[in-house]
Amino acid sequence: MPPLTRRAFLRLGAGVALAPLLRARAVRAADGVREYRLRAQVAKVRLADEPFPETELWCYDGRSPGPLLRLRQGEPCRIVLRNELPEPTTLHAHGVRLANAADGVPYLTQEPVAPGETYVYEFTPPDAGTFWYHSHFNSDEQLGRGLYGPLIVEEPEPQPFDREILWVLDDWRLTRDARIRDDFHREEDFARAGRLGNTITLNGRMPRPEPVRAGERVRLRILNACNARIFQLRFARHVPWVIAVDGQPCEPFQADGGITIAPAQRVDLMLDMTGEPGRGYGVLDTFYPQSPLRLTELAYAAEAPLRPGPPGDPVRLPPNPVPLPDLARARREFIDLEGGDMGEITNPRLYGAPQGLGRLLLMGKLWAINGIAGFRTVMAPLFTIRRGSHVLLHFRNFTAWPHPMHLHGHSFRVVHHEDAAAVGRMMDTVLVGPGEQAQVAFVADNPGDWLFHCHIVSHAEAGMIAVVRVT
Ligand code: C2O
Ligand code: CU
Repeated sequence: MPPLTRRAFLRLGAGVALAPLLRARAVRAADGVREYRLRAQVAKVRLADEPFPETELWCYDGRSPGPLLRLRQGEPCRIVLRNELPEPTTLHAHGVRLANAADGVPYLTQEPVAPGETYVYEFTPPDAGTFWYHSHFNSDEQLGRGLYGPLIVEEPEPQPFDREILWVLDDWRLTRDARIRDDFHREEDFARAGRLGNTITLNGRMPRPEPVRAGERVRLRILNACNARIFQLRFARHVPWVIAVDGQPCEPFQADGGITIAPAQRVDLMLDMTGEPGRGYGVLDTFYPQSPLRLTELAYAAEAPLRPGPPGDPVRLPPNPVPLPDLARARREFIDLEGGDMGEITNPRLYGAPQGLGRLLLMGKLWAINGIAGFRTVMAPLFTIRRGSHVLLHFRNFTAWPHPMHLHGHSFRVVHHEDAAAVGRMMDTVLVGPGEQAQVAFVADNPGDWLFHCHIVSHAEAGMIAVVRVT
């Protein structure tokens, strides 16, 4: 098969098909910095075609997902957030290894942005890849109402694909008349799987077929923006290669058992369209095997294939400048996850002080990290690390529920995982299944107070949240 050279790629056109997603327009500020303006606001949108009624969401610039921010690796940018919501908010660029001051964590790196106020975030993304931004205030509710959007950092050189597709997955908890169900902060959700929805959307719409052409090589970026739902994607008749996880390039691999994507995780796939013109092929979610779900389908145009066969080897994305941890000198920190329904907290503490379990429950705290139920306004660091040191986080999940654990400001390398194939990959959110253990390591090269929490945001709000200090 002829390899897809850079020239061929250019000839085919670097078309980016993001039909339902709006790309944010950057303005050049007076100082030359690429600047984006986002308004957090209440807006009515349609999650499906008429006659499906409109749904009132909280979103950026009147849509959810919010506008796509396309940044350049190593180039400073500025996001001016204006809060037009009825309550405070902040904006967090998830997975971007940015300076602490721009991390968007209320009470930790900034005061919440009050209604009517504006806040300016400035940072330089060091890594190219697929990221996202979302509110970090009252997250269970603000994410559940739609406050997030995709953020892509481009590689300096175009990569050899014919086209790029972006899928932002979410599930919403809707009433019969398509309103967002108002039952946030429910103990049943907090104590169990988190706020699962009942309506799945892809790029903010109930899934429609994705138009493709036979023979094309697509970069498919997938982001799980759900509060709690985990996906396991399977592509009928196609064998996608995973080429990046959480924005970090990996050794390309084919996930035979399906591609697991926990809340906040991203995967970049290389997908060769090997199906037949005119046909459709399902994309299924099988994470909850009792209720497999058809997410969408690859709908082939009748056109003849773009090329006779797949264009050679899988694409290797250029590496990002993430420092590699050295296990021989890494300091080990145990991270014990406890609590939740069918679980317990052996040595419960609140703000670090011993506390009866009853009092914890009264405060809505159902989960703990190393016995400590985190509380967003008062949080002493779980531990402090000298800048530049190597750290091994050893997770032990003593609960009956899965937890996608996320560390701000860093990417870590998987050292041990139930899924042995995951070892060696860089990520910012690692899924630790019930009763499982996982180890990740990183170089603490980014000074500041960094949040560390479960990205099932109900769990984070109910205590599974902590701070790691790098000095
Ligand atoms: Cu997606 Cu604390 O972040
Ligand atoms: Cu969790």
